Amino acid sequence: MSSLSRSTRRAFLKHSGLALAGMGLERASASGQAQASTAKAAALDPSTLKPFVDPLPVPKVARPEGLRANPENRAEKIPYYRIAAREVRVKVHRDLKPTRMWSFGDSFPGPTIETQSGQGMIVDWVNELPKRHFLPIDHTLHGAERSAPEVRSVVHLHGGRTPAESDGYPESWTTPGQVQTCFYPCAQHAAQLFYHDHTMGINRLNIYAGMQGMFLIRDRREDELELPSGAYDIPLLVADRLLDTEGQLRYPVSEFPERPWVPEVFGNAILVNGKLLPYLEVEPRRYRLRIFNGSNGRFYRFSLSNHAEFQVIANDQGLLEAPATVKRLPLAPAERADIVVDFAPMAGATLTMVSDSFDILQFRVAQKGAADTSRVPAVLHTPAVQLDETNAARTRRLTLDERMDDVQRSMGMLLNNTPWHAPVTEKPVLHTSEIWELVNLTDDTHPIHLHLVRFRILDRRRFDTFDYQSKGVLRFMGPVEAPAALEAGWKDTVRADPGMVTRILVPFEGYAGRYVWHCHILEHEDNEMMRPYEVLAAPEPA
Ligand code: C2O
Ligand code: CU
Ligand code: CU
Repeated sequence: MSSLSRSTRRAFLKHSGLALAGMGLERASASGQAQASTAKAAALDPSTLKPFVDPLPVPKVARPEGLRANPENRAEKIPYYRIAAREVRVKVHRDLKPTRMWSFGDSFPGPTIETQSGQGMIVDWVNELPKRHFLPIDHTLHGAERSAPEVRSVVHLHGGRTPAESDGYPESWTTPGQVQTCFYPCAQHAAQLFYHDHTMGINRLNIYAGMQGMFLIRDRREDELELPSGAYDIPLLVADRLLDTEGQLRYPVSEFPERPWVPEVFGNAILVNGKLLPYLEVEPRRYRLRIFNGSNGRFYRFSLSNHAEFQVIANDQGLLEAPATVKRLPLAPAERADIVVDFAPMAGATLTMVSDSFDILQFRVAQKGAADTSRVPAVLHTPAVQLDETNAARTRRLTLDERMDDVQRSMGMLLNNTPWHAPVTEKPVLHTSEIWELVNLTDDTHPIHLHLVRFRILDRRRFDTFDYQSKGVLRFMGPVEAPAALEAGWKDTVRADPGMVTRILVPFEGYAGRYVWHCHILEHEDNEMMRPYEVLAAPEPA
């Protein structure tokens, strides 16, 4: 059934949702009248803009306001941050008017938070947003009913091993004027995490508006490797948007004014650290680029326009055991990868980081620079314990499902055919490992993310979706596929490909409590492709 329903759905989308009614200029609501009256400016075609006229901005690093007591050890004082979410105007390109966005601090992306492994912190996330949303809320979605306040926010630290009370549960939102206080212990490996809005039913809109930023954990072990650092270690937040000729954000809507939700959003304006088609002047030496796909739904395949190889040294949860040398880096929404590019052989050249047909970022390599003393060792990281899947306490088979209405339109996706509000079904025990088999019955790749934990990808294997749906039988149709070298490290988000069983091995470490797991395509997540899960406290030894 899938391929037919898929093409029907595609045809439907072409004729409706992705035709892009203009949204979001003035006060937008789900009513057709508001949509029509806000359709002022035409869609922007970014190829009409002069490329590479703006230097790449690097978000500033957040500064603590002072010290507070560590909630786990009152005698210790830890850094205290206060970061406000508010409306900002962002110059995304020299020749565009400033774009209205919602961000943290006074720019988009918000400030980068940096800490050392084991150095905890307190963050007060202050909601200073306006009272009305400027993107099209779908009030039929769970959590976004008309009875709920229009503007709500809750911040989650993606990839953080965080106590449940501080994790940013989707229903624990604040309204303008309120504060969410979080304790982040950061007792975990050096890695590139990120923070973002996670509000039930509107997180796709809040993040599209700009509510995300980067969060870097460093540690001594990594510093000792002498990887490129300081000015040669640059975070890149890549996120696509649709803009109009006035430089304002557009978020597409369906043809149904009462149900504006669309199943996916792909922008043709790809922002890097908030700039459209920026350039970066580099020295002819090694750089560490920490790439984070912060898009709602776009997948990238990054490469360099001169076809040069580069090394992947880390992914979601930190260093790989060994660098992987590649020419192309695939990155699904919410995935991160740190790459090292050696510009030394390219002195004097100009090249571009591209993804398929999109230009992303131009590099202008100087003729000369200071001596490069950095290196990329052949062994980056030696794991303390080898994970053994035979020690898993249990295996859970979990399906990824698409719901169709009677004319074969997508009504959204589900995890294990279960809506968000149904009772919790996944209850792993703290300090045990489980294998989760993600059985993808849909026609999309879904980047599946679990809060709290890090995991290993075991393998992927093609199966017969028809047999599974009609007889409930899992019949494999292909060989076991090991993860690619660049997926071999600790992950917190995994691509579950269509028609494949993707197996992950998850040690549940950190804290007991209520967390969530979900697809990180934000349109899916907001429409029921998210489930709570509960880590149960380990029983006391007898
Ligand atoms: Cu990036 Cu539920 O998170
Ligand atoms: Cu997360
Ligand atoms: Cu999905």
